Amino acid sequence: MREHVEAIKSIVGLMAEKKFEDASKVAHAKLGLIPDMQFMCNMFENENFRKLGFAFHRSGDDLGDALKTKDVNASLRALNKTMEYCVTCHASFRQ
Ligand code: HEC
Repeated sequence: MREHVEAIKSIVGLMAEKKFEDASKVAHAKLGLIPDMQFMCNMFENENFRKLGFAFHRSGDDLGDALKTKDVNASLRALNKTMEYCVTCHASFRQ
């Protein structure tokens, strides 16, 4: 989870430096639906939590794709969408 915050931070930083390719890589590697994440999300018993987790990671891949186009507005919209999942999930699930 803390890695997620770091990923968002480095994506914003890289965007500011116009390093869209690097930002895109971070998005896919740290927020996207890579096999590791799939494995981890599948361990959760709660169906809604799992769905939200997968939707979140898919939005991470969309973010990576948006960043690749070097379109700042599209990237910010995608980043906002991804961060909505952080907010939504934290609002719904607490330990
Ligand atoms: C599918 C659900 C879900 C999504 C999506 C999600 N989180 Fe979390 N997160 C949790 C849960 C569950 C906890 C632990 C319970 C709590 O602290 O309320 C947590 C805890 C955290 C913590 C505290 C971890 C710690 O070590 O104390 C951070 C930081 C965090 N999330 C960041 C993020 C960020 C940033 C995003 C989006 C990029 C994100 N999370 C997306 C479910 C989610």
